[in-house]
Amino acid sequence: MGRDHTQRAMVVVVTTARRPTPELRSGAEELATELGLEVVERAGQSISALRQRHGADGVLVVAHDGITYRVGDVTFFYHPSMAKVRVRGLQLGARDVTVDAMGLQPGWRVLDCTLGRASDAAVAAHVVGTSGRVVGLEIDPIIAALTRRGLLTFDPDSRALSEALRRIDVICADHADYLAQASSRSFDVVYFDPFFEETVEASGAMQDLRAVGSHGAVTADSLAEAARVARRRVVFKTRRGLCPPLVAAWRAVAGGKSRVEYRVLDIEES
Ligand SMILES: C[S@@+](CC[C@H](N)C(=O)[O-])C[C@H]1O[C@@H](n2cnc3c(N)ncnc32)[C@H](O)[C@@H]1O
Repeated sequence: MGRDHTQRAMVVVVTTARRPTPELRSGAEELATELGLEVVERAGQSISALRQRHGADGVLVVAHDGITYRVGDVTFFYHPSMAKVRVRGLQLGARDVTVDAMGLQPGWRVLDCTLGRASDAAVAAHVVGTSGRVVGLEIDPIIAALTRRGLLTFDPDSRALSEALRRIDVICADHADYLAQASSRSFDVVYFDPFFEETVEASGAMQDLRAVGSHGAVTADSLAEAARVARRRVVFKTRRGLCPPLVAAWRAVAGGKSRVEYRVLDIEES
């Protein structure tokens, strides 16, 4: 899980806030059972002391205000990122370049192959509405677990976004495996947003996800399967001028001055 420069398996333990209630203890047990991890007593210790004591690379902390994942000096937790601003913008009639690249319409089914914190998936779920469906695949079990819980419990102070978050189905899976067994033409759009080789974000927004997420490249096989599984489009988010050769021939959709662009494969109706 995450990036492990030493090539050995990451050791991650689960603990609670310093003053655990029975509720926090059962939340920690539930999370640890789901992820196959050990729960360790917080016993008033700092996270770095706990890390040293248990030889852990990462610590999941179940607290009253949510779950945080602490790795090195990074703290990852679920939040909807830009989804709130983007959904609000759509409600006010603004355009959203991801939605445009997907060509999204109410009722469509979307497969997000790189879910992360589901910010793009939330925007998609808002547009496709209750008659559509958004399934998100996340290879990292910890990100999948935190995003799944966050989508169900986060209160974004926006009814439209709240409803969109609750509608996303999170599956912890490698998209290569999922796509290989998915039925042909079973989603209108198949979407990829892998990490860029080089960071585009000027600062914080994606840095914590980048630190804990999986950096595997999308393979030619996965793109070929995506083209079989998609009914209308395969969409690949990339960086302007640094498009991977595998999608270089696809149609480009760029948004304003953004350094991000989308490569789109239009599926021919047969
Ligand atoms: C750049 S982030 C996606 C951000 C996302 N679009 C959002 O709105 O939050 C890429 C995510 O894809 C995940 N990932 C990488 N390879 C994957 C794979 N083969 N299958 C599923 N998820 C994968 C990473 O762990 C990471 O969480």
